[in-house]
Amino acid sequence: MKKSYRILIVDDEENVRRMLTAAFTLDGHQPICAADGQQALEVFGQQKPDIVLMDIRMPRLGGMEALQVMRKTHQEIPVILMTAYAAVETAVEALRFGAFDYVIKPFDLDELKLLINRALQLRSMKQEINLLHRELSDSYQWDRILTNSTKMMELCRDTAKIAQSNASVLITGESGTGKELIAKAIHYNSARAKGPFIKINCGALPESLLESELFGHEKGAFTGAQMQRQGLFERANQGTLLLDEVGEMPHNLQVKLLRVLQEREFERLGGSQTIKTDIRLIAATNRNLAAMVEQGEFRQDLFYRLNVIHLSPIPLRERPEDISLLAQHFLQKFSAENGKEMIELDASTLAALESYSWPGNVRELANAIERAVIMSTGFIMFPDDLPEHLLQRHSTENSTQRNSDPIHTSEQGQSLKESMKAYERELICVALANNQGNRVQTARVLGISRRALMYKLQEYNIE
Ligand SMILES: Nc1ncnc2c1ncn2[C@@H]1O[C@H](COP(=O)(O)OP(=O)(O)OP(=O)(O)O)[C@@H](O)[C@H]1O
Ligand SMILES: [Mg+2]
Repeated sequence: MKKSYRILIVDDEENVRRMLTAAFTLDGHQPICAADGQQALEVFGQQKPDIVLMDIRMPRLGGMEALQVMRKTHQEIPVILMTAYAAVETAVEALRFGAFDYVIKPFDLDELKLLINRALQLRSMKQEINLLHRELSDSYQWDRILTNSTKMMELCRDTAKIAQSNASVLITGESGTGKELIAKAIHYNSARAKGPFIKINCGALPESLLESELFGHEKGAFTGAQMQRQGLFERANQGTLLLDEVGEMPHNLQVKLLRVLQEREFERLGGSQTIKTDIRLIAATNRNLAAMVEQGEFRQDLFYRLNVIHLSPIPLRERPEDISLLAQHFLQKFSAENGKEMIELDASTLAALESYSWPGNVRELANAIERAVIMSTGFIMFPDDLPEHLLQRHSTENSTQRNSDPIHTSEQGQSLKESMKAYERELICVALANNQGNRVQTARVLGISRRALMYKLQEYNIE
């Protein structure tokens, strides 16, 4: 049986309400009516319709204002606006506020029905995806390493092999490149997966605290040691211990760590009993340990012990093919986490992401997308939604091996953002002319949605 939906019809014209009510009732749906925005909000709150059709100009409270309230409280309910005037600016603004789409009166009833079907289909798809996401994040304790880069794929393959062994692993790489993620991948793919995965940041604690964290202590070992305490070497037994920022480990502790690695045993602080431990040790750092050894800042023997296997995730700017993949991944992830509808990345947003140098690597990208998802109110993510500094012209030493395409050879003094806009405007004008002004066709050629094109026509003042 066909599903029956609750459709809220909001219009100050009785004729429109009557005509739509009749049509939807015939189709087996349950229409609900309101005569203005104010009344619409009351009905909306009480009856939670599946979809809303709403006029823009109405007495008391207009459709645009009502739309904004609806989007704040129930993002999952699609709203289609109806406007009697071909006021494209208003309709485009409506898309910005998160309307699903709009129709211009007088509209074709069959077209409107198609639009409604599409909105409802999209909604149930999103609900399913959100559900899947929730199930996935419950069943996996670690994210998968996503990559399109050959070098990183090789690294992933190595990770799988390493997981089968017990060897110590050293992971070096810039901040945010995924060192911890790799450490977790090793642990959760190994025979130790059911044991603990414990991480400690060696740079975050003063030496004495770090020492008692790692080795534990007996009662009375030092002032304040009121009872016996297990250290991480004990607690990580049969699991994996990640020593993060291992380059910051004080010299005295480097000696003690070496012994644990060699003998697999140690004593608690203030204790004489020797304790055996079975751990896989992974060390990570964004410093150049080999250079630190040269300069006498890190013990050579410890370096060799840690460096049995070396993995080194490369910076994001050296694998630009990952930017789009990861951006889409974080877009889905954070949309679901924030209960937002899936947002589309506009092509110009992707271009901006791809021309930035990402000194903070994947973490910085994740943060930028999360922020943009939270800030965005519509369905499409535009460059304006990104943090400002991402759009500033990147310095020459950062610019990756890009060729001379017009986006990147901006005029003197023009910011990247300005140049991109100018270039984009030109592209759109040319495409429009080539397609005799047909917007549907133009949007298709440009590979953007019709809604994105409408927005841009208004933004760039293109007739
Ligand atoms: N290839 C990838 N696929 C999916 N998520 C990734 C990938 N690389 C990194 N991430 C995510 O990016 C964030 C930063 O990664 P991670 O914490 O592993 O970096 P790190 O190298 O340990 O950084 P730091 O040196 O600052 O500690 C994490 O949320 C991680 O899940
Ligand atoms: Mg880390």
